[in-house]
Amino acid sequence: MTKKWKLWIGGKWREPKDYETLTNPHTEEELAEIGQAEPADAVEAIVEAHRSFQKFRDYPAHARAKILAKVAAILEERSDECAKIIAKEGAKSIRNAREEMSRTVQTYRFSAEEAKRNYGERIPMDAAEGGENRFGYTKRTPLGVVTAITPFNFPFNLVAHKVGPAIAAGNSIVLKPAEQTPLSSLFLAEVFKEAGLPAGVLNIIPGKGDVLSEALTKHPYVKKVTFTGSVEVGYTVQQQAGFRKLTLELGSNSPFIIDEGVDIDQVIERSVQGAFSFNGQVCISIQRIYVHQSLYEAFLERFVTRTNQLVIGSPFDEKTNITAVISKKSLERLQTWLDEAIQEGANVECGGGVQGNVMEPTVLTNVNRDSKVFRNEIFGPMVCVFPFDTLEEAIDDANDSRYGLNSGVMTPSLERAFYAAERLETGGVIVNDIPTYRIDNMPYGGWKDSGVGREGVKYAMREMMEQKFISIKTGD
Ligand code: SIN
Repeated sequence: MTKKWKLWIGGKWREPKDYETLTNPHTEEELAEIGQAEPADAVEAIVEAHRSFQKFRDYPAHARAKILAKVAAILEERSDECAKIIAKEGAKSIRNAREEMSRTVQTYRFSAEEAKRNYGERIPMDAAEGGENRFGYTKRTPLGVVTAITPFNFPFNLVAHKVGPAIAAGNSIVLKPAEQTPLSSLFLAEVFKEAGLPAGVLNIIPGKGDVLSEALTKHPYVKKVTFTGSVEVGYTVQQQAGFRKLTLELGSNSPFIIDEGVDIDQVIERSVQGAFSFNGQVCISIQRIYVHQSLYEAFLERFVTRTNQLVIGSPFDEKTNITAVISKKSLERLQTWLDEAIQEGANVECGGGVQGNVMEPTVLTNVNRDSKVFRNEIFGPMVCVFPFDTLEEAIDDANDSRYGLNSGVMTPSLERAFYAAERLETGGVIVNDIPTYRIDNMPYGGWKDSGVGREGVKYAMREMMEQKFISIKTGD
């Protein structure tokens, strides 16, 4: 009999009406029974969060920082256990899961530090006529209840990117984790309790997005919605949230440009990592590789050779690179997109097959610009490679996208690096590395359909606070 997980509301485990069985995507083994929140549970969690906020809003910064630092310390100590949870429920390779845990610890540490850096600004009031004898300043204050809807691909760290800044800012939270990876979030309930977070400040309610999203976005106590996931769901969330503050992180089809004169040896390994890390289920996975004509043949040959060496296996095997994609539905979608791309002219340079729930790492060339594997976000182990003649042409093609999260460009020329950095239409431009690069204090977010707002602890915190201007008349 597997463990039954209830809902975490108001600092207590609450019995849900229904449970659903959670299975390992790689082995299909049953892992746990997960309580499924209903809209009424979401409302109860929001009310609890609102109630706890009335006190938590006045917690001093040093106290919030202390809680977050303690959370980081507990997670660091228990990181092996946490990595196993990620590998079990998300089928992430254990090495990638450990990397995620070390980033998660850092994200909570950054949150602890940022809690103490909530600076305002002094306004030089006497710069304007009529401003004499007034002292003007700004301050940022917490919003209240933040609801967070998180994805399966980084079940600890992308939760940390919402929960950490929300608490650092003095808000309370209702967290709805991804349906496929709720165990990582449920694990946090006792961790935050042990770290001293008051009951009700963090509430965790697994359940179905389409059942819960209306309650989580429309309740009058909800002051901010932060969502990471697909464009389609993001659009619904935006419609529902109305004028509430909103952060949407919606993925991409990230380009990586390899310019003339680059040493191919320097890019093969990073290109393979960028395209296939966690089976390509990363928002900034490389989806389009543009290679200068003079390097194209050599690059393709070596890239395909290295891709063919990737090890398909159990998430728990230290040697494994590629595992099952998150669900059968996802696998079917990837197969359909691949078949369509082939019909539309694409060549399969390697991969293309399926082993159990695993899709083999797949390299495509000659991809039609109207194919879904070019236009949409693949979110799987498939990558398209294109030759180009001029950097300008590669950038234009890279910008021919509804998305704009991160882009990467390798070039030996400083001038061309600046040119690319200016012209690429993405929230982040990573020069001399792949777009699949993120550290947890950098601003992270997209242009175009890749989203709204920024994460990266300090930036997320700003979006979880209201700014107030105060003027004090000091004399006549
Ligand atoms: C994402 O997939 O949205 C996040 C990528 C990362 O944090 O590395």
